[in-house]
Amino acid sequence: MNVCILTEHNHLGRCFDVVSWQMECVVQGIIETQHVDALEVLLHGLCGIPKERIRIHELCLKSGPNLGVVPSEIHLLCDLAHPTPSWTVRHVGGAMRGAGAEQISVLVRTVVESKVSSNVLRFFYALSYKLDHEILKVGFSFTFNRGVLINVSVTSAHKMAKLHATDEAVPITPNIHMVEITAPATAENYNDVVAAVSSFCEYLAPLLHLSKPGVSTGIVPTAAAAAASLMSNSAK
Ligand SMILES: *[C@@H]1O[C@H](CO)[C@@H](O)[C@H](O)[C@H]1NC(C)=O
Repeated sequence: MNVCILTEHNHLGRCFDVVSWQMECVVQGIIETQHVDALEVLLHGLCGIPKERIRIHELCLKSGPNLGVVPSEIHLLCDLAHPTPSWTVRHVGGAMRGAGAEQISVLVRTVVESKVSSNVLRFFYALSYKLDHEILKVGFSFTFNRGVLINVSVTSAHKMAKLHATDEAVPITPNIHMVEITAPATAENYNDVVAAVSSFCEYLAPLLHLSKPGVSTGIVPTAAAAAASLMSNSAK
């Protein structure tokens, strides 16, 4: 599908290839950096195939007040670890409500993602979006096929001293890594996807608490012992 957005300045209008327009289930948690190796051992054991390195340059843009609409936020993402890095624009929609959505520990939300050309930043500036912040997420991911595709990413957020200077990025919280589990879903199957994600989270429970984004969970007291046991098993 193609979506064309035309501004008053028609020469800046640009076509986006809509790669996906879907729902996703998501949970997040944090882990101390000292236990990341143990988490990797666990994930590798569950997955069987090696991790994929990721180095995601992420720009968060927010719409200016003069747009006269509900404030909007979009993310421009580029995985610099990819052999041919390319930009994706990602708009995260509202979380699903009702129908017991508050009771479940997994967030279900809509996501629109599209591949875009690299000069798209100018286009969003013309639409009154402003750069809110910029980060580099460095780490790795594993993908699991549990009937649905479950993606686990483990990253540490880095900030840049200068605009877009990804080579000079330094960790924001060196002692903490962020863990995010996502799985694509549809209006038809999200109940199954939520169940698959929830049961997957149980494997990781000794090392980290996972919950809806924005719900702070902290680190788990069992993490050190679980990590030590994983590391000693993997050394044998
Ligand atoms: C998994 O998620 C990470 C972080 O969002 C992303 O870079 C990676 O491409 C994803 N992997 C797959 C196979 O979708």
